[in-house]
Amino acid sequence: MTRISKSPISITILPMNEISCVSQSATILEALLELKVEIDHSCGGNGSCGTCRVFVEAGLEKLDFRNEVEAEIAHDRGFSDNERLSCQTQVKDQIAVRIPKKLAKG
Ligand code: FES
Repeated sequence: MTRISKSPISITILPMNEISCVSQSATILEALLELKVEIDHSCGGNGSCGTCRVFVEAGLEKLDFRNEVEAEIAHDRGFSDNERLSCQTQVKDQIAVRIPKKLAKG
């Protein structure tokens, strides 16, 4: 049996401008968590909270279109074209993503 290995893909994380390699076909959220990047993901990656959104600054054309779950949240919340739910979007090629600033509390 031949085993097909998927080569790692580089992802640039902004605003830190950090470049790392992640597994192909991981979701952006899985990749960011693996890299210990602090990102909200209140629903645990189920596509229901919208807190894991990122802005894809490069490579948007290399990503799949939004799935049904993401499309509904994107529509309801008025996401811009490059605003994606990281838990619903797979890394398939080199991309750069910007992590939104957290809103100051209190
Ligand atoms: S973690 Fe909740 S929508 Fe992605």
